Amino acid sequence: MTLAPIEVATRQTTRRRRALLAAPFLQDFLLLHPGKPGGLKIGRRRFRELQQAAADGTTCPAWMVEAVRDAWKLEVTDRPIDQLVQIRTPSPYGYGRASYELNLGCNYDCEVCYLGLKKFEGLSWLDRERLLHILADAGVLWLKLTGGEPLIDKLFPDVYTLADELGMMLSISSNGSRLSNPKILDLLTNRRPYRLTLSIYGATAEGSL
Ligand SMILES: C[S@@+](CC[C@H](N)C(=O)[O-])C[C@H]1O[C@@H](n2cnc3c(N)ncnc32)[C@H](O)[C@@H]1O
Ligand code: SF4
Repeated sequence: MTLAPIEVATRQTTRRRRALLAAPFLQDFLLLHPGKPGGLKIGRRRFRELQQAAADGTTCPAWMVEAVRDAWKLEVTDRPIDQLVQIRTPSPYGYGRASYELNLGCNYDCEVCYLGLKKFEGLSWLDRERLLHILADAGVLWLKLTGGEPLIDKLFPDVYTLADELGMMLSISSNGSRLSNPKILDLLTNRRPYRLTLSIYGATAEGSL
């Protein structure tokens, strides 16, 4: 895959997440509620209608008010589209999903782990920023953040926040050991992932994995 060079944006970690996300996904167009599983297939015509409504500064169309009320019990009557919905730009590359191992380092040493040495290595912030922009430009909508143990990576909050700001639906694979860390707790409470997968390891060889 060849992607055109991109300008790397300045670090942004404070912009508020919009309640809804409209995005192309493979041959379809989805309306999603970041932090929640599930979504609505809206088709190209309605996706374009939302693009136009955002450009015109108009409020949510009736079909959308009803659909998000049914799906998520969300009340959006009279809400301006551009404040409520983040609309992803269609990508010519058409990718949909990706998995990113932030850092191969881990605070556990599970015998079965396929990562072997689990070296604490990861990209610099600028390269991570660039990678996330490339993934978004390639059309990735569903992004899994894993490792090693992603939640011990020092840049995890920045990576997670930027991926969220770029309009990706995030899942995390973790051993769960850092979930009580106040910074992580705060981040994942304010910007919920749509899925958090925890590996629970048994006390015996038979109970492990
Ligand atoms: C490498 S871990 C990284 C994320 C996190 N540290 C965790 O343990 O969930 C990702 C997943 O791979 C699984 N895994 C590790 N080694 C494996 C192996 N040899 N065979 C099958 N699954 C494995 C883990 O149980 C975990 O669910
Ligand atoms: S917690 Fe995950 S990454 Fe760490 S050693 Fe176990 S399986 Fe591997």
